[in-house]
Amino acid sequence: MKVLAIGNQKGGVGKTTTAVHLAHWFAMQTGARVLIVDLDSQGHVAESLGLRSGDGLFRWLVRGDALDRCVVPGRLHLDVVTNDHTAELVKAHAQGSDFRAYLISMALGQAEGDYDLVVLDMPPSTDVLHVSALVASDALIVPAVMDHLALTGVMSIINTAAQLGRYPNVTPPALIGVLPTMFERSTSETMENVKRLQEAVGDFRLLLPPVPRDTHVREASAYGKTIWEYWPTSPAAVGYEQGKLSRNSAGRTGGYLHAAEIARTALGF
Ligand SMILES: Nc1ncnc2c1ncn2[C@@H]1O[C@H](COP(=O)(O)OP(=O)(O)OP(=O)(O)O)[C@@H](O)[C@H]1O
Ligand SMILES: [Mg+2]
Repeated sequence: MKVLAIGNQKGGVGKTTTAVHLAHWFAMQTGARVLIVDLDSQGHVAESLGLRSGDGLFRWLVRGDALDRCVVPGRLHLDVVTNDHTAELVKAHAQGSDFRAYLISMALGQAEGDYDLVVLDMPPSTDVLHVSALVASDALIVPAVMDHLALTGVMSIINTAAQLGRYPNVTPPALIGVLPTMFERSTSETMENVKRLQEAVGDFRLLLPPVPRDTHVREASAYGKTIWEYWPTSPAAVGYEQGKLSRNSAGRTGGYLHAAEIARTALGF
């Protein structure tokens, strides 16, 4: 079982959209049994998949209910741990625990054998669940909007992840990459920010092919569907027609298809 965290302390950068689309792609395309855990009390994972929000996370992490009683079926091969306002209670519980950094990894022990991939949709914060999610993860993708504020959020989570080695028995998650989301490549400001970020991250391969800004994403989400279901040939799904760099299996560059294919290789599926 592999655990993939999708995080950035900055809000509204496409974390939930990325988590939902990658989780759904793995479940559909690889046959992997996937669990997506909503760590954000906004409950957007359930909403994006057309499900009712619920207190799955609270029952699982605080009440200690068995995981299989806390998940709801999202799609074929895709289960969801929902989250709602009770996330505040989860945070308070975690805060008081001696094992707070290990809270999620300990609870995920129950998922071993039932799931091949766990995707953690992280909240826009740096609280106890943020650290606990990183501790539990094997790999990390950092979605980011390429504006002038992108650098701070991105470097912050990358540095936090890198420092986790100081916890006993913790291997920091491998950074699969920074994923530019809602990308508008025609603006010179965007390209300038991409350059800055590339320099800061240090390795150009860590800047993943971007996901274009695409109104189909919002529409799909409003209908409780992923773009794989709503408009599978949309730019956000399959990317740009021409790209200088690598291409995805649709012969294009970027989009959630490209991100998913790169994640698949990185995770060894
Ligand atoms: N590629 C895209 N094109 C257009 N809109 C997008 C795209 N990706 C995401 N969005 C929209 O941007 C908004 C924010 O996305 P999302 O909820 O995934 O961000 P987030 O980082 O999870 O936010 P939060 O920090 O609040 O949890 C949503 O309305 C979503 O539908
Ligand atoms: Mg979110």
